[in-house]
Amino acid sequence: MKNIILDVDTGIDDALAIAYAIHSPELNILGITTSFGNTTVSEATKNTLQLLDTIGVKIPVIPGVSKKFNGEDPREKTVTIHGNNGIGEATLSPAVSKPHEMLAHDFIISAIHQHQNDITILTTASQVNLAEAVKKDPNIIPLVDEVLVMGGAISVPGNITPYAEANIYTDTEAAQFTFSSGLPITLVGLDVTTKTLLKRDVLKKWKKKNSSLAHVLAEACEFYMDAYARVEPELNGCALHDPLTVGIAIDSSFVQTAPMHVDVLTEGSKAGQTLGKKASKNTNINVCLDVESNRFVTHFLNRIV
Ligand code: BDR
Ligand code: CA
Repeated sequence: MKNIILDVDTGIDDALAIAYAIHSPELNILGITTSFGNTTVSEATKNTLQLLDTIGVKIPVIPGVSKKFNGEDPREKTVTIHGNNGIGEATLSPAVSKPHEMLAHDFIISAIHQHQNDITILTTASQVNLAEAVKKDPNIIPLVDEVLVMGGAISVPGNITPYAEANIYTDTEAAQFTFSSGLPITLVGLDVTTKTLLKRDVLKKWKKKNSSLAHVLAEACEFYMDAYARVEPELNGCALHDPLTVGIAIDSSFVQTAPMHVDVLTEGSKAGQTLGKKASKNTNINVCLDVESNRFVTHFLNRIV
């Protein structure tokens, strides 16, 4: 089993990623750390706890910092895409489980020391928790097997601005810091995630299931798909951004990658843009360039509910 930490901003597709990871026997989830982006840290924490209670599993949920890496307040939550409660207005029962008392970056540091060279970090949110962990204890850098980052758009336009993907845009300085830190990062960007589609007809099947998880996810995804439909009506579905990151942790052959040098523009009108150069001597990131979409989506659907 692969030891993993999930760093999330739950978040509709984060919820899908969490459920997919829990239902994957290849993965041992040491903890789920939370960040801002789709919603606030406290709401992401609450949504994650409620989701875990709905699934019926006990996994530590550790809240992250609520300021950006440069100390500024984060951007507003993305109500139009993820709803006012961060999870597409889906109704989850109040959580019985409580958040962990540590801070996310301290949990990350301690888990990496405990599982040296046997730990993978998946971030599907801003990278501030990881950046804070590396800043506080740079000794963790060589002890991590892999960092899978859902974020960026190297060969395609952004989704929150024409240049930037949402997770990178949320904290550009955290992203640039981790990218240049020497961590073994694989970038799972819009280049591949927008090729992985969850189709609307799946929701009918989930609604018929005798499973509260299936009902909650169907409700949340309906909101997500409606949001997508306002921008890309022909899609008739939504992208599986965050779940693809989990899929790659399970089976890296879902994607083709290439080493590149990637920098993040931290300010200006193109802030959040990820600039990737192939054939650079200073490659720092393994970038996902293509995905076996049908094989991945089938794998995801067989496990999710
Ligand atoms: C990413 O941004 C968030 O809105 C999603 O949860 C995903 O992590 C997609 O750009
Ligand atoms: Ca996310």
